[in-house]
Amino acid sequence: MKICCIGAGYVGGPTMAMIAKQCPDIDVHVVDINAQRIAAWNSEELPVYEPGLDEVVREARGRNLRFSTDVDGAIAAADMIFISVNTPTKTFGMGAGRAANLEYVEKCARQIARVSTGHKIVVEKSTLPVRTAEAVKRILSSNEHQATFDVLSNPEFLAEGTAIRDLLHPDRVLIGGESSAAIEALVDIYARWVPRERILTTNLWSSELSKLTANAFLAQRVSSINSISALCEATEADVDEVARAIGTDSRIGPKFLKASVGFGGSCFQKDILNLVYLCEYFGLHEVAEYWEQVIKMNDYQKRRFARRIVTTMFNTVSDKKIAIWGWAFKKDTNDTRESAAIYVCRDLLEERARLHIYDPRVSKDQIIRDLQQVMLTQDGELPPKKAELIDNNVVVEPDCYAAAEQAHAIAVLTEWDVFKQLDFRRVYHSMQQPSFVFDGRNILDHAALREIGFEVYAIGKGG
Ligand code: UDX
Ligand code: ADP
Repeated sequence: MKICCIGAGYVGGPTMAMIAKQCPDIDVHVVDINAQRIAAWNSEELPVYEPGLDEVVREARGRNLRFSTDVDGAIAAADMIFISVNTPTKTFGMGAGRAANLEYVEKCARQIARVSTGHKIVVEKSTLPVRTAEAVKRILSSNEHQATFDVLSNPEFLAEGTAIRDLLHPDRVLIGGESSAAIEALVDIYARWVPRERILTTNLWSSELSKLTANAFLAQRVSSINSISALCEATEADVDEVARAIGTDSRIGPKFLKASVGFGGSCFQKDILNLVYLCEYFGLHEVAEYWEQVIKMNDYQKRRFARRIVTTMFNTVSDKKIAIWGWAFKKDTNDTRESAAIYVCRDLLEERARLHIYDPRVSKDQIIRDLQQVMLTQDGELPPKKAELIDNNVVVEPDCYAAAEQAHAIAVLTEWDVFKQLDFRRVYHSMQQPSFVFDGRNILDHAALREIGFEVYAIGKGG
């Protein structure tokens, strides 16, 4: 059995590494058009930071796991081809800002059609709008070599930061398809390490839609608790206490109720926008509006946090130094896509704050790129004044202490564990007075900080 995976990103890389680890007899070839990314997968410094990933890659790479840019060669040799390319939100034309851009998926399908001979199983791993498989099937069937295909949907539910654990012990594996033989071939792979009862099989469309629905429900929980956090701040209720109180109801459950500065990541916003677009397409305007509120609440939460910093600091942050702790969209990843930090910092920069940013895993280049990106005009240009603002008012620091030195405030934007283990007396004495802390993740010991002398503001906590 030979597997090929097109797309060596956050999903394709770790997922294929796990399959290769668990199935030493299966040849797994991961390909990408991005030569730099492939070089990184072949090096000691993997392009994706994920706890436990290095070990898995090290075990399988060179044995039955390969990374290369030979897309045609890998497709031609494979029995099963995973499509794991990016499906960002469209930025142009019909459905701009909502629909998924399926350009990369379609290009893959065309390339598979062009190169393939015999019979192959094509697996959609990327998150796609429901009924994409229809288009993929049509493109594949118009090939010149009489090749035949089965198309399966096998959405990935791993979360970044816990990818290896999620891949090793998934709550479920979902496989949608029409051909029972093809489904069985993929079930057999996962069954090497996942209990059979956790491998769910459905029709193609249910599988495609389940992925969008799962992400929409998860994001909705975060927006729901974040909406309550605003009410807590107005009423002196404590959002963590409320979350604990409702989370013990077994019907609600305790997970995904952590109020925050807003959800980020490559999936939640993109998938809900996609769901909204699909509902509009099918004329379901009320359903579209319902889900759109999840995004609106998230935007509100990010804006509200920046506004709270400004109003608390005597209505001006102009020329004040603010330490930004954390840039990644969550801890234990170097991924910054849609990170709340980007939007909060944009708002603070517009107020002329001086930002000193530290993240344990995100590079300076990435931070600057993210800020430039968020300040582009609709035509995709960076106005000189914004470029100047970033140049003059942003410093990326080597650690938390350096970022906080002489700062007026600290804003915690990612819940990295290291932020909890600092010498806060040292931090306090290095800062300007009054020293503000804005805990956008509710991870610090607020009572202890107040004891030292900090003025502490946190999500969903009055005072
Ligand atoms: C998500 C889904 O969990 C995963 O199943 C899917 O495959 C991809 O999208 P991911 O984006 O990697 O995974 O991270 P996740 O842990 O879901 O967190 C998303 C965002 O929500 C993060 O910014 C996180 O900080 C935030 N979040 C999560 C909260 O603010 N509060 C919570 O209680 C949980
Ligand atoms: P995800 O988080 O879904 O894994 P990423 O953006 O991290 O998304 O990864 C997607 C990868 O797919 C990128 O590395 C990109 O270069 C690759 N890719 C996109 N289109 C193609 C293609 N036609 N052939 C090969 N690789 C592709």
